[in-house]
Amino acid sequence: MASPFTIHRLHMRGRSRLLKCLNTVETVFRRSVGTEPIVAQTEGVQDNDYGENDAPKSLYDLMAHRQEQAERSVLISCPSRTSEKKFLKFLSKHGDIKKHFFYESYGVYAVVEFGSRDNVVSLLDSAAIPIVSHDSTVPFKSRLLALRNHSSVDSASQPSSLPCQPQTTVPINELIQRLSREESIDEQISSLTEAYQLTEENSRLRFLVCSLLKDIAAAYFPECTIRPFGSSVNGFGKLGCDLDMFLDLDSISGWNLKRPKSGLSLEYQMKRTNSERHVTQSILSVIGECVDHFGPGCVGVQKILNARCPLVRFAHQPSGFQCDLTANNRVAMKSTELLYLYGELDPRVRSLVFTIRCWARAHSITSSIPGAWISNFSLTVMVLFFLQRRTPPIIPTLNQLRDLAGPEDESVIEGNDCTFVTDFSKIELQRNTDTLDQLLSDFFEFYATFPFSRMSINIRKGKEQNKPEVAPLHIQNPFETSLNVSKNVNTSQLDRFVALCQESAWLLQQSETRTPRGVGVGDTPAAWGLATLLLPSQVAGIKGRKKRKREPASERIKSLLESLKNKNEGKKSSDS
Ligand code: GTP
Ligand code: MG
Repeated sequence: MASPFTIHRLHMRGRSRLLKCLNTVETVFRRSVGTEPIVAQTEGVQDNDYGENDAPKSLYDLMAHRQEQAERSVLISCPSRTSEKKFLKFLSKHGDIKKHFFYESYGVYAVVEFGSRDNVVSLLDSAAIPIVSHDSTVPFKSRLLALRNHSSVDSASQPSSLPCQPQTTVPINELIQRLSREESIDEQISSLTEAYQLTEENSRLRFLVCSLLKDIAAAYFPECTIRPFGSSVNGFGKLGCDLDMFLDLDSISGWNLKRPKSGLSLEYQMKRTNSERHVTQSILSVIGECVDHFGPGCVGVQKILNARCPLVRFAHQPSGFQCDLTANNRVAMKSTELLYLYGELDPRVRSLVFTIRCWARAHSITSSIPGAWISNFSLTVMVLFFLQRRTPPIIPTLNQLRDLAGPEDESVIEGNDCTFVTDFSKIELQRNTDTLDQLLSDFFEFYATFPFSRMSINIRKGKEQNKPEVAPLHIQNPFETSLNVSKNVNTSQLDRFVALCQESAWLLQQSETRTPRGVGVGDTPAAWGLATLLLPSQVAGIKGRKKRKREPASERIKSLLESLKNKNEGKKSSDS
């Protein structure tokens, strides 16, 4: 079927400022998912990463590249007084170092990528089993190592700091100040995205942790793969987000072998169980035990096997990641691929998703603890739906993406049609010139007035549908269409979301909010624009007001603005 979308890529012509802004966003996101050429930090070594022109487009290409890179990498805990130069010289006895970086997580760690697997084997062969005086150790060797410096005189003379790459986001107050220094709301959105998104290094570290985990699972399933999914790879991940992993056993050879029509053949004898779910639970149970007992750096292992999607949850201390390991979760992998595709289509998608996710977190609309609140996944689907409802739409519906699919894209998982086009070049978008500023205001207005009580959000059709079941918020699962992804959300959480949308929409209409307000107290810039929307004081305001009889939104916001203004003026006069 011919797509109704026409090419949009140059729709920003004549809006140079906005284009500049969007370009920044695009560059920034290429960095976060790792498609930008990487500057090798190791002197004199050519990096073998993708260049701009041959940048991988599909998520699968990108993941395969990152996985291969991770297999050639090691994670080393370093004493803080390590000399970077000596460290590299010591390691390069085993082969070329393609890239290295340091970060802090309960001590300093280095990620070191070698040129080949053989280099890593040589390095591991040279490593010793630790001698511990009181404890005993599990003799499980992995690519998580510790550097020991036996010359104490030498180490004392070294400067104490290695150049560490940050792996966490800036605190919200610092972000608010940073945004308040920007000159337009569009620039604020780009700045927020840049500050919060996953870095190149963080993305590498995520794949390395998957690769280390794979080495444990490989004790049972030598041909398995552990892939990250969710926000670690869908382009919407924020520094510090959890690491969702999927144990993929599909690559185990022999499954796809053609059986001869006549003559002899062999097949494996395998244990039979009564359901696929039972197989998943058994595998996760055993691997969970292994991670718990043998996995260096893996702590707080919990096996949550009776959940709808069974998982093993643990903290990986050396990386600081909270990890969820699942198996047989191919639909989630498809959702990840779909979100990644939408994010790649137009830079405004990622920017808006990032901004809304950050706004929602700042006001505890979302949380890292499971509960009756809206999840980041649901919120992302809501942003996508809003972008499909623009005139003209900014992104196509899932049905349109399915209609563009070729035979190679066909995918049916557990009876669910998960087919959509994966070749981005086949997708042509309509010409839509909305600015991010406009989209942000309209997003709040859209959901401030959305008929949640009657309608369901449906990105497959790109149109609201009559709700098929009673639930405060109904968002159709894009692939398992009989399911509601926001089934957990209760009325009070939805009401909070709607109230915040109303207040944020109102705030963005006020000229006081929309104008940069210069320097406030000391060097601190006065909050304006997007920064105002992230102010935690708004939450307190809303909570306090909930106990009272509700006034019209505009009255509440007016008084909030007045109190903010008075506070700032009070601070100014006490300063002068
Ligand atoms: P954060 O971890 O909050 O940053 O976002 P996330 O997108 O990673 O969400 P989460 O860790 O909760 O889930 C990981 C992935 O699982 C999501 O990106 C989706 O692909 C998938 N997922 C999560 N919840 C649902 C759901 O209710 N239905 C479906 N189909 N997939 C889900
Ligand atoms: Mg996640």
